[in-house]
Amino acid sequence: MKAVQVVELTGPDSALRLVDIPEPEPTHMLSPGGGVVVEVHAAGVAFPELLQTRGEYQVKPPLPFVPGSEVAGVVRSAPDDAAVKVGDRVAAFCALGGFAEVAVAPPFLTFALGGELDFAQGAGLILNYHTAYFSLVTRGRLRAGETVLVHGAAGGVGTAALQVAKGLGARTIAVVSSDAKQQVALEAGADHVVRSDGPWKDEVKELSGGGVEVVFDPVGGSRFTDSLRSLREGGRLLVVGFAGGSIPEVKVNRLLLGNTEVIGAGWGGYVMGRPEVNLEIGAAVNRLIEQGSVAPIVGERFPLERAADALRFLDERRATGKVVLDVRS
Ligand SMILES: NC(=O)c1ccc[n+]([C@@H]2O[C@H](COP(=O)([O-])OP(=O)(O)OC[C@H]3O[C@@H](n4cnc5c(N)ncnc54)[C@H](OP(=O)(O)O)[C@@H]3O)[C@@H](O)[C@H]2O)c1
Repeated sequence: MKAVQVVELTGPDSALRLVDIPEPEPTHMLSPGGGVVVEVHAAGVAFPELLQTRGEYQVKPPLPFVPGSEVAGVVRSAPDDAAVKVGDRVAAFCALGGFAEVAVAPPFLTFALGGELDFAQGAGLILNYHTAYFSLVTRGRLRAGETVLVHGAAGGVGTAALQVAKGLGARTIAVVSSDAKQQVALEAGADHVVRSDGPWKDEVKELSGGGVEVVFDPVGGSRFTDSLRSLREGGRLLVVGFAGGSIPEVKVNRLLLGNTEVIGAGWGGYVMGRPEVNLEIGAAVNRLIEQGSVAPIVGERFPLERAADALRFLDERRATGKVVLDVRS
């Protein structure tokens, strides 16, 4: 099969090679001996893959390896006790191996893909939407009627957070850095959009009547203190990622003064050993798809052999929505 491998840890420009390699066996490290084999139509592109080309991600497989954490396609084979069967259209989180014509995922991270979504949207479903739901609900205790401030709101996980929060009955305020990203955030259902290069903290306080209940933050960096200042009493700041590059530090007296919380939300680490939690989140995301609240926004699309360009797109802060590789175009 055709696949893209990371062959050295020198960054997206030079780390990748298009190769012809044998198809994988029907086994996965998270479900040994019992993997779902998927004929891949589209592969999602995300920060872990970018970091893996530099050896900077926490998962560091031996070289060479096929990156790619999630795919959408058609089931070729599945264990007898899996919820999906041969021929089903699925979205699957394979952790590694997705930048290839065939990938293997554990059954508890493989979900039937409803007819509402195409393969490219399916390749943007699990990492972003499960993270958004896990962060907002499981960790953030979001309730209908609350207001959520979403940073990086035109990005993959940001657009997902906007759609999930709206679908759960929350009001949303998006923070973005450009006109084009403002459009994407509105398309994802933001009630209000503020600009990261403007006086966004004051605008957020005004729009929310004194502060928001929840901040969803996949960006980190220098805006963190203003995010804390944007919370109302009892508010929760969800630490989702550090796309901005630097890890902020908290002066905890601010939490005491405001009666606020900073909450870590690491989806992968939490759910990988808990199949039942994945199934619950999958069912909740499906309900949001059926009610029309969730429909992944696909931004730039590249053929498999241009995986390096796709990663560069993320690296250069140019991505909107989900970046996708069309594997069988
Ligand atoms: N906690 C978890 O379980 C989990 C799961 C999935 C992803 N993540 C993390 O969430 C973060 C976002 O992932 P994503 O897939 O949504 O990425 P993305 O699509 O590239 O979006 C990230 C957004 O961050 C903003 N940003 C600010 N400074 C940036 C910089 N220096 N470089 C790039 N972007 C910058 C950009 O928005 P503006 O230009 O509008 O500021 C951009 O749209 C990553 O750190 C990822 O590792 C965490």
